[in-house]
Amino acid sequence: MLWVVGERYLSRRDVLRQGVFGAMALGAAGAVSGSVLSACSTSGTPSASGAKRFPVTPTTAPPEVAGSPYWLRGNFAPVTVETTATELSVTGSLPRELAGLYVRNGSNPLKGTSPHWFLGDGMVHGMAIEDGKALWYRNRYVQTGFLKNGGGLGSGAPGGASSLSNVSVGPHAGRLLSLGEVGAPFELDPSDLSTIGPVDFGGKLTGNFTAHPKLDPATGNLHAFGYNFTAPFLTYYVVDKAGNLTTVQDVDIPVATMMHDFAITDSDVIFMDLPVAFDLKKAVEMVSVPGSQAVPFEWKPSLGARLGVMPLGGPTSEIRWVDIDPCYVYHTVNAWREGSNIKLEVCRLDNTFTPPGTPSAATRRIWTIATGGDQLRFSEHILDVPPADLPTIDHRYRGRASTQSWLGEVTSTKGSLSFTGCQHLNTATGKLDRWIPDRGRTSGEWCFVPTGDAEGEGYAMAFVYDPGTNTSSLVVLDAQDVAAGPVAEVALPVRVPYGFHGSFVAA
Ligand SMILES: [Fe+2]
Repeated sequence: MLWVVGERYLSRRDVLRQGVFGAMALGAAGAVSGSVLSACSTSGTPSASGAKRFPVTPTTAPPEVAGSPYWLRGNFAPVTVETTATELSVTGSLPRELAGLYVRNGSNPLKGTSPHWFLGDGMVHGMAIEDGKALWYRNRYVQTGFLKNGGGLGSGAPGGASSLSNVSVGPHAGRLLSLGEVGAPFELDPSDLSTIGPVDFGGKLTGNFTAHPKLDPATGNLHAFGYNFTAPFLTYYVVDKAGNLTTVQDVDIPVATMMHDFAITDSDVIFMDLPVAFDLKKAVEMVSVPGSQAVPFEWKPSLGARLGVMPLGGPTSEIRWVDIDPCYVYHTVNAWREGSNIKLEVCRLDNTFTPPGTPSAATRRIWTIATGGDQLRFSEHILDVPPADLPTIDHRYRGRASTQSWLGEVTSTKGSLSFTGCQHLNTATGKLDRWIPDRGRTSGEWCFVPTGDAEGEGYAMAFVYDPGTNTSSLVVLDAQDVAAGPVAEVALPVRVPYGFHGSFVAA
């Protein structure tokens, strides 16, 4: 069966594969104080595909079109220029221990519009830091197959190189990888954020690849999965420390559900099979109706919800499941073993992909999965902290008992979302530190960068947007004292739209 999409024809398999690209991340950004624009050296280049020509301006003002959806307004709106800025002005003092590249991905539709915030073309924003100086800022489109065909969905069958690649970006095995959630990773050049090309691990990767893989700090192995819209609905991967895809094993689940994240301990993998089901009718509408805002996922609590525990590395045949109350978790914080119990810290929502206005409390919880008996047993503890998401931890503690995390505090208004600042929670002491920027400035995900030996000893950084100047800055906080405010701010001559996930690539 074929559906007409513009002048193209999609097969049923195309549509099933296309699905939605459950990205996630809610967003907000903000910038810092009155930036010293005159101190910056900036150049802009026409973006992306080469066929497109864009004006080169020192700043890119967000369009304000009445009636347009929130992700096309304000600092959600895409920028149209690929900028290179050097000689950046620093307020405060950039710690000399910070040496490397901070890079963050996000959705930035080349066409200027998209059916959903999650469904724009990937654009990475990076800042290189060394010897207390901000060497450069660049933003570059990820040169995916979709982008080269004009950008967005409907410009080619999804999968492989045809990806939006807009969710996260991070290093592994000497490669900087841009990750979507549908399709293959893309390797980027960390020296200028240009795209080297898709990575299919020598042809071994044939399905989708999550944007939230987990690096085991003991082995250097990258554990990952992909969810698909046709069987097999779920596949588990291991990429070894040399960058070889060494494990590809299907996991048996009954229906296609959206899995945005998972977790590992030092001996387990934990999958979350939660009731957001793929909806074929909405998928067809999304790709066949111009201007459609249909999203092909449906909140379906009748499916139930469950957690799957299997040995780290597999085999997937040994997975065991335990039922939980229907809910959705976009992001896990961390997981670890305490004897026969697994502790799994999550940012939990009551539901998602529900009609606007549906209540959905956001809470942080520590789940316990008791694995000692014949059957897994589940219990949970709710943390009394303000709503927050986009968690980051000290990645040296991935899969191990950890006590500290940094999150973007969430404020929702009128169907939109913003991340107003940084939360640092120490679950060992119960202490919650918060930095909420003034003047309506907003942030996003905070990236923790270790500079000392102890857990959490280091800095947290994010792009912060200032609506007063319509520019952004990189803000660096002392990770152990975020409430004290920035230790350094690097002013940018442009704004960085709200985005999703990033990382720090040490020099
Ligand atoms: Fe995410």
